[in-house]
Amino acid sequence: MSADTADTSGAPTRSHGRISVRPSLKPRDLMEDPLVQKGAWRAKIITLFPDAFPGVLGLSLVGKALDMGLWALECLDLREHGQGRHRDVDDTPAGGGAGMVLRADVLELALNAAAADTPRDVNRWPVIYLSPRGRPMNQATARRLAACDGVTLLCGRFEGVDQRVLDHFDIEEISLGDFVMTGGEIAAQALIDSVVRLLPNVLGNAESAVEESFSDGLLEHPQYTRPAVWQGREIPSVLTSGNHAEVAKWRKAQAEEVTKVRRPDLWAAWMRRKG
Ligand SMILES: C[S@@+](CC[C@H](N)C(=O)[O-])C[C@H]1O[C@@H](n2cnc3c(N)ncnc32)[C@H](O)[C@@H]1O
Repeated sequence: MSADTADTSGAPTRSHGRISVRPSLKPRDLMEDPLVQKGAWRAKIITLFPDAFPGVLGLSLVGKALDMGLWALECLDLREHGQGRHRDVDDTPAGGGAGMVLRADVLELALNAAAADTPRDVNRWPVIYLSPRGRPMNQATARRLAACDGVTLLCGRFEGVDQRVLDHFDIEEISLGDFVMTGGEIAAQALIDSVVRLLPNVLGNAESAVEESFSDGLLEHPQYTRPAVWQGREIPSVLTSGNHAEVAKWRKAQAEEVTKVRRPDLWAAWMRRKG
């Protein structure tokens, strides 16, 4: 558990990454609770599968940033709030039909536990349900979330969650795309990855997010590297000409072309912005 985000609800939590040290920590805690840098962006995940985390978020630059305390991850196990001897979290859908629905009372306990130490202002700390019914995730949303203090992400399972919870807690819904997955955990990791790479000091200059797809509303130009000829295919000569102005011109034209062909929606928005 994060020391600067100590959970006072008594609800079990699991943290990943470095956590800021408080004086009261026992030596054992100090060994287990690494440091989080002050003001670091935080993600809280409500899930039935806390073992799915950090998953891919523990790898590469995002994982390194987690280790360095540039961001923090805390999982809340929904099962801990389950009801009865079997800690039930779900029940049959009202009105009948296939599958099970996550119970409102169980979700309420988990959401309250997650909210114990977070700002109530949704502009600073949005609560998001990953859902195929949500607004599609995009780069603008990643930028908006990166500017927040953190997020709470609710991962659904089965047929989803009781609608009353979404209404009562004013929960935003975000979709990874027009397809259905078994649970929200993969979507949560995708969302977090897209946000964390925008946080300060996560990407080095070499991996700058400034010139990639969506950074200016266009898809990215094609990329090439060695060997110069592969399977009889050459790298476009302009890219090896050493003429930086021509390279930039070529890349811009390619970005426009690929956007026009593949994403007419983005292209139309780009043209509108250009006037
Ligand atoms: C099997 S799905 C539920 C689908 C739901 N019955 C429907 O038709 O909209 C189980 C959970 O996976 C997650 N999920 C599935 N597809 C998703 C997507 N495209 N984007 C975000 N989350 C998704 C959600 O958290 C959802 O509650």
